[in-house]
This record gives sequence, C-alpha cells and structure tokens, in this order.
Amino acid sequence: MATNLAVVARLRAAGCVFAEDEARLLADAAGSPAELDALVERRVSGLPLEQVVGWAEFCGLRIFVDPGVFVPRRRSEFLVQTAVSLARRASPVIVDLCCGTGALGVAVAARLDDSELHAADIDPAAVACAKRNVEPAGGRVYQGDLFTPLPAALRGRVTILICNAPYVPSAEVGYLPAEARDHEPRAALDGGPDGLAVLGRVAAEAPRWLAPGGRLLVETSDLQAAAMRRAMTAAGLTARVRRCQEQGATVVTAAHLVIPNGLGLL
Ligand SMILES: C[S@@+](CC[C@H](N)C(=O)[O-])C[C@H]1O[C@@H](n2cnc3c(N)ncnc32)[C@H](O)[C@@H]1O
Repeated sequence: MATNLAVVARLRAAGCVFAEDEARLLADAAGSPAELDALVERRVSGLPLEQVVGWAEFCGLRIFVDPGVFVPRRRSEFLVQTAVSLARRASPVIVDLCCGTGALGVAVAARLDDSELHAADIDPAAVACAKRNVEPAGGRVYQGDLFTPLPAALRGRVTILICNAPYVPSAEVGYLPAEARDHEPRAALDGGPDGLAVLGRVAAEAPRWLAPGGRLLVETSDLQAAAMRRAMTAAGLTARVRRCQEQGATVVTAAHLVIPNGLGLL
C-alpha cells in the first residue's frame, strides 16, 4: 500500500523519529487501509515497530518477531561476526542459548557451511517464534532453563555456544526505554542484582557442553565485561573481552582449551 502523509504525521506526533521509514514499512505490512490504520494505532500506542510489522532485519536476514518476544538488537551483530570469525572447524555445532527469536543462531549458521544449529529459551512465546526462524534454517528449538532441555548427545560436542541472555541489573530495568520495559518480558531483560545472574550460570556449565577448542560467546555491557571474564576463567575457560565502538557492543569470548595428554583444562 502507498504511504500517506497522514500516517507520517500520526507517527511523528507520537514521537517516532524515523516516521517516513516507519510509515513505508507499516504500509508494506498492511493489506488494506483498515489494516494500516490498526497497525499505526498499535505503533503509536508504543509497541516496537518490529512487533507490529512482525519482523526485524538482522545481519541482512528477515527475522520473524512475535508480540511479547525480545526484538534482536543491531549491536548483537557484533557477536555474530565474532562467532563466525572464531569458527575454525568444518561442520560446526552451534548452540544459541536464551535464543529469543533465534536471530543470532540463524545468522551464525547462515554464514558457516554445513552447520548444525540448536536453540533454546525458557519462554514459550520465544520458543514458538524461534521455531518459525530456526526450523526453516534446518535447526531445532527446545524449551527450558539454559542447558536443561538440550539433548544429552550434545555434551562435549558444541563448537560455538552463543548466549545473549538478559544482562540489565534489576535496579536499572526501570530506566530502559518504554518500548522495552512495556513490551518485552521482564525475564528477557532482568539479569539479577549485578546483571550477570544468568550469564554466570552459563559460564559455569559451558565446559561440560563445549568440544575441546569450542568457544563460548556472550554479550555484556562494557562495565560487566571484566566480571564476566573472571566468571569464565573460574570455570576453567580462557577468556577475552572484545569491544566494537561502532556498534556500541561488548562481547566476552572464551575457549575451552584441553591439554592433549589429558592432564585437564588450561
Ligand atoms: C535479552 S533476550 C535475547 C534474545 C536473543 N538472544 C536475542 O539476542 O535476540 C534474553 C532471552 O533469554 C531468555 N531467558 C531468560 N532466562 C532464561 C533461562 N534461565 N533459560 C533460558 N532462556 C532464558 C528470555 O526468555 C529471552 O528470550
């Protein structure tokens, strides 16, 4: 449908900075003037644009986004780029924990040949949405707490373990933009007192799932990165902090290095 000036004006009045672009996307998503009106109404009421049109662009892919599911952030493309650059083996086994829509795992798998993709989330709405994105890419999606729902056969086989978990400290959730606070689940945002409650558990259990030489990659805030690196080191992993100024992103990576003669972990 053609964009119209009245829609642009409504969006602008509601505070949408990129009103023309949004009007075009909403018009493309609508099948009739009445549907366009309903979509604009949802947008001006504060829903994230991606939940209104039903998709987000991420790493050049169109990812389905359902209402109530965390919208993948563009800064997380840095985690995807880093994962791809660290993937040295043929036929990687990728696990995307706390997958939300599954955008990150799908994007990593799309860039690596002959990959095996598994994704998991605790939230049924996220799992249903992830199935729409991950299964057409040949992957599988599970529901449950962190590693719990994964098939036991994955233990010791995972070459790339990515996890963009909730990492906002509980006391700071109230300062997030209203779009996130009001339309993304609290469990997708709140990382506990220091923001690292979920990620700390991931680091502790990761060595049991990673293949020798396998990598764990997580996104954190800049301030949390040193504590996250310490948590990974305490779990027996060799960790490093990587930052991307341009995307405003911080990713902490860790390698599961095993001494060949079986003496144990470095
Ligand atoms: C910040 S969102 C990120 C979603 C996705 N990784 C992304 O970057 O678009 C965090 C996700 O973690 C999930 N989550 C929170 N606690 C979890 C847990 N204990 N086990 C599994 N998933 C969890 C939430 O349901 C939410 O989908």
